Parts: sequence; structure tokens; C-alpha cells
Amino acid sequence: MQSLEDFRQRYLQPLFATGTRNCSINACESLRIVSQLLILLKTLPNVEAAAGRAASKTIMGHAEAVSGSEASVILNLPEFDKRVRQIESRLRSVEQPVWHLATGSQLEWNHCTSGICRCNPDTKSFTCWNTNLKTVPVTQVIPMNMVAIDLSRNALSTLHKDTFRGLTLLKELDLSNNVLDFLPFDLFQDLDSLLQLRIQNNQLEDIDARTFWKLRNLNLLDLSQNDVTLLPESVFYHAQRLTVINLSDNQITNFPPNLLRDQLLLEELDMSRNRIETLASGSMRYMTKLKTLDFGWNQIGKSNNSKIDDDFFEGLISLRSLMLHNNRITTLSGNIFSRLTNLYTLDLTMNRISHIDGRTFAELKSLNELLLGQNSLSSIPADLFLNASALTRLTLFSNNLTTLEANDFEGLSSLRILMLNNNVLKFFDARAFQPLSQLEKLRIDSNKLMYLPQGALHGLDKLLAVKLDKNPWHCDCRALYLARWIREFVAKLWDGQQPMCRGPGDLGGHEVGLLRYDDLCDGQWASMLSLSPRLPVRKHQISTPMNYTDYFNLYLKHIYNSTTDEELKGAEITNVAIKKVQQLVD
Ligand SMILES: *[C@@H]1O[C@H](CO)[C@@H](O)[C@H](O)[C@H]1NC(C)=O
Ligand SMILES: *[C@@H]1O[C@H](CO)[C@@H](O)[C@H](O)[C@H]1NC(C)=O
Ligand SMILES: *[C@@H]1O[C@H](CO)[C@@H](O)[C@H](O)[C@H]1NC(C)=O
Ligand SMILES: *[C@@H]1O[C@H](CO)[C@@H](O)[C@H](O)[C@H]1NC(C)=O
Ligand SMILES: *[C@@H]1O[C@H](CO)[C@@H](O)[C@H](O)[C@H]1NC(C)=O
Ligand SMILES: *[C@@H]1O[C@H](CO)[C@@H](O)[C@H](O)[C@H]1NC(C)=O
Repeated sequence: MQSLEDFRQRYLQPLFATGTRNCSINACESLRIVSQLLILLKTLPNVEAAAGRAASKTIMGHAEAVSGSEASVILNLPEFDKRVRQIESRLRSVEQPVWHLATGSQLEWNHCTSGICRCNPDTKSFTCWNTNLKTVPVTQVIPMNMVAIDLSRNALSTLHKDTFRGLTLLKELDLSNNVLDFLPFDLFQDLDSLLQLRIQNNQLEDIDARTFWKLRNLNLLDLSQNDVTLLPESVFYHAQRLTVINLSDNQITNFPPNLLRDQLLLEELDMSRNRIETLASGSMRYMTKLKTLDFGWNQIGKSNNSKIDDDFFEGLISLRSLMLHNNRITTLSGNIFSRLTNLYTLDLTMNRISHIDGRTFAELKSLNELLLGQNSLSSIPADLFLNASALTRLTLFSNNLTTLEANDFEGLSSLRILMLNNNVLKFFDARAFQPLSQLEKLRIDSNKLMYLPQGALHGLDKLLAVKLDKNPWHCDCRALYLARWIREFVAKLWDGQQPMCRGPGDLGGHEVGLLRYDDLCDGQWASMLSLSPRLPVRKHQISTPMNYTDYFNLYLKHIYNSTTDEELKGAEITNVAIKKVQQLVD
């Protein structure tokens, strides 16, 4: 087909030859013609397309299935395309066969069992699971007192609105894993007893607001893995007994404030893997039973004006698990979680958080697991964990931390697992880990640490595994603490991974734990002063009258005598020694 004239001759003339009042084609055929026109319009240059718009209005005026308002939509071709597909699936639904709904007599149950699917009169259930059905089997008898129907894993694209008519005792309906792209709004109208409705893994784009309104006993609704883009705000109205809603893995962009107005019993809500940008304060306020809330893998915070309202989580006093990972959150305000006193797990992994208010976690007295990995934190706000005494697992890997202050982990008296790997830590205060008396697992690998501060792992009596590798450990005299610690606790190295020396000189590539005093401190001064690496003092003596042995011995005493005070003094003495040598060389 080349032009509108071709189109007219081929489709319109035969169609209207006998007069418009006697149109012998059915709705589907007329729709096919409209689709042809659409394809044609897409290929036409602009001028002709403009004429085409006028032409199409005429055609659509005749095709009864296409309402008058459709014509104006044609200016927007993708939208028009979508409308055509919608109407097409609606018509397909009308043309779907319905199976034989019958009384629940013994005889009818016998008929039920003789159908092509499995019908079980004892459990009053029916399954046509995985039988490649494109439509429901027309000859099948379905007694009205049926309790469970499983039509999952077939090729159903839609259903007639009367498919479940009168099944007032049905409790479970499984339509998952089909190719459903349309549900008549009154399909579930009679299912007053329905408890579980599974429609996951289909191709639904639009859901009529009224679809679930009559399901006043429904507990579980699984709509995950569909293509829903827009949720009507009233779609769950009247379904007041819902405890689980799964909308994961759709294309939802909006989360309307009144969406869950009637779901006061809701316990689990899975909104993960959608495209939600904003969480505006609203109906979550009354959901006092909600235990699990998943907004992971969305786009919260994507643009400047998309964010989480401060009071969005207010009222979720039973919430145990809050998933906000894989979003674009940049800032956490002090009040946002303040009512979540029962929260146990908070997952904020993979956002862009660079700022956390010091009070953000202050009220989370039950918080057990806090996941902050893969964000942009460059420091830990003061007092952040002061009230987090229940926390047992804290992940901060893949952030931008450069140092740790003495009080950063103050309050974490139950912490057992701390992940600090893949940051840019160059140095940290020797006292940073001291509050962590219950610490069992520690990762500080993949940082920029040259030295482990003297006494850093002191007092961590419960420690089972620590990962220290992939740091540029500098193996001079100051590595004695690390070397000694590894020798003493080699069994505690995570997966047996040995930290390696980055330098100086030919010590690079050696395992720190294998180096002894002579290896580390021989040439000490040269290395400390960044002179040519590892000049062995004893063999090629620097011409100075100074005898350093006293300093060394003093230093060693403090290292091997591991009381904290001694260690700190030891550190000072080293600095004094360095200065002395510096003065001499200068
Ligand atoms: C429509 O026209 C056809 C022949 O053109 C005729 O057979 C049929 O009866 C007509 N239908 C109505 C409803 O007038
Ligand atoms: C929701 O559905 C997805 C995919 O079907 C599944 O992985 C997830 O576990 C479900 N969530 C809940 C809370 O059941
Ligand atoms: C810790 O919790 C107490 C009691 O709820 C509260 O008064 C205090 O302000 C909290 N501390 C911090 C640092 O937020
Ligand atoms: C990390 O911090 C540095 C310096 O403060 C900054 O330039 C850089 O952008 C930060 N990187 C990230 C991923 O936040
Ligand atoms: C350095 O002094 C110590 C005593 O303080 C002495 O035992 C040692 O022999 C001296 N070493 C050298 C090389 O002079
Ligand atoms: C440890 O310290 C004590 C007292 O400070 C001292 O007597 C002892 O010699 C030291 N031990 C070593 C190995 O330096």
C-alpha cells in the first residue's frame, strides 16, 4: 500500500459499498483496518499524513468499537498505537469462550473430572497448569462450589468477563505465567470469598480502577512481573483485608498518596523494581500492621524535586524491614525514620547518599542490620550510632570514607559484622574500633591504608575474621604491630588472605606476616625519610654520630608490651626518633 488512495480503494470501498448501515465486518476486522491505516500513516510524509488524519476520522466514525474521542488521539501516534492495542485486547476478551459453569452437584463434579484438566472433587479444586491453553477449555464443567482454580503457565491472553461468574466460594485463583494483557473490570465481580489472587508474570499494562473492588476478603494479591505503568489511586479501594500486595517488577511511575487508604491490615508491600521517583506523605500513615516494605530498585530521588517526604514512614510502627536499596537517594534527614522503633533491617545500599543527619538512626532502638554500602559517604556524622545498641551488622563498603575518628562507632555495643572495604581509608584513629567489643567480622580490605594504627585491633576479643589485604601496606618499622598481630592471630585472617607489603623497595610483594624485626626495621630511617629505599644502616652506614639502637629498643618494648598506654607512648617515641634522625640528616 503506497498512499491513502490505495487504502481507500482496498479497504473503504468494499466496506461501505453496501451502505454504512449494513457493515458486515466484525469489530476485530474493523480494528485491523484501523491498524493498517496507522501503519500507512507512519510511512507517509508529513503533508500526506495531515490529510490522513482527516481520512482516519471518517473511518473511525464508522468503526463502532472505536469511540469518537479516539480520532483526536491520532496526532500522537504512539498513544494511538497503544489505544488500538487496548481496544484490540478488549474485543478479544469479548470473543473469548467461557467454560461451562454448573451447579455443584455430584453429577457435575463427575463431569468436571472428565474434562481435559485435573479436577479434584475432594479438595474442590481444578488445575489446568502448564497445558498450553490459549483460551479456557469450552467443554470443561466448573461446578459453582469450586474452591481453587489454577490456570497458571499457559498462553491465555485475556478472559471473558463471565469466566468466574457465580464462583462465590472460590478461595484461590492462579492466573500467573500467562500472557494476559487485559482483564475485564468485572472479571472478579462475584469472587466474594477469594483469598489469594495470583496474576504475576503476565503482560498487563492497564488495570481498571474497579478490577479488585469486590474482593473484600482478598488477603494476597500478586501482580508482580507485569507492565503496569500507572496505578489508579482507587485500584485497591474496598479490598480491606489485603495483607500482601506484590507489585514488584512493573513500570509504575507513581505512588498515589491514597493508594492504600483501605489497607489497614497490610503486612507486606513489595513495590520494588518500578520507576517510582517520589514518596509523598499519605496513606502509609495508618498502616500500623505493615511489617515489610520494599521500594528497592526504583528511582527515588532521581530529580531535584523527587524525594521522600519526611513523614512518609510515619505510623509504620510495626515495620521490621525497609528496603530502599538501588535508588538515587542523596540525603537522609533527621526525622525520616524517627517513628520506626521496631525496624530490624534497613537497606540503603546503592544510593548516592553523601549526607546523613546525625539523628537519623537515633530512634531505631531495634535496628539490627543497617546496610549503607555503595553510597558516597566521606565521613561518619557525629553521634550517628549512639543509640544503635541493637545493631549487629553494619555495611559501609564502597563509600568515600577517608578516615575514621575515635568516636565514629560509639554506641555499637552489639555490632558483630562491620564492612568497611572498598573505601579510601588512609588512616584511622587507633581507638575507632574500641567500642566494638562484640565484633566478629571486620573488613578493611581494599582501602589506602599504609599502616595499621598501633593497637587498632586491641580488645576485640570476639574477633573471628578480619580482612586486611589489598591495602598498600608499608613495611617499615611501623608495620611491626601489624606483622606481630598477624603472626599471633593468623587463623583470624579472612579466608586466610595474607596482607602484602606494597613497599618499601624489595619488600614489596612480601607477606607482612612473614616479616620479622630485622626485615622491617633494617633500613628503617632511610625508608621513613623517603630516601632511596632500604639502605641497610649497618652495612652502608650513614655518617652520623648517632646510635639509634636505644630508640629502637624503646620502641620495640612498647610494641611487644601491649598495654594501651604503653602503645600510645610507643607511637610518640617513634615520632621523636624520626624527628631526631631528620634533624641529623638535615
Ligand atoms: C447486509 O447486506 C448483506 C448483503 O449485502 C445481506 O445479506 C444482509 O442480510 C444484510 N444485513 C442486514 C442486517 O441488513
Ligand atoms: C514479589 O514478586 C517477586 C517476583 O515475582 C518475588 O521475587 C518477590 O519475592 C515477591 N515479594 C513478596 C513480598 O512476596
Ligand atoms: C537516644 O535515645 C534517647 C531515648 O529515646 C533519646 O532521648 C536521645 O536523644 C537519643 N540520643 C541521640 C544521640 O539521639
Ligand atoms: C569522594 O570524595 C572526593 C573528595 O572529597 C570527591 O571529590 C569525590 O567526588 C567523592 N566521590 C564520590 C563518589 O562521592
Ligand atoms: C649503640 O649503643 C648500644 C648501647 O646503648 C651499644 O650496645 C651498641 O654497641 C652501640 N652500637 C654501635 C654500632 O655503636
Ligand atoms: C614490659 O613492660 C614492663 C613494665 O613497663 C617491663 O618491665 C618489661 O621489661 C617490658 N617487657 C618488654 C618485653 O619490653
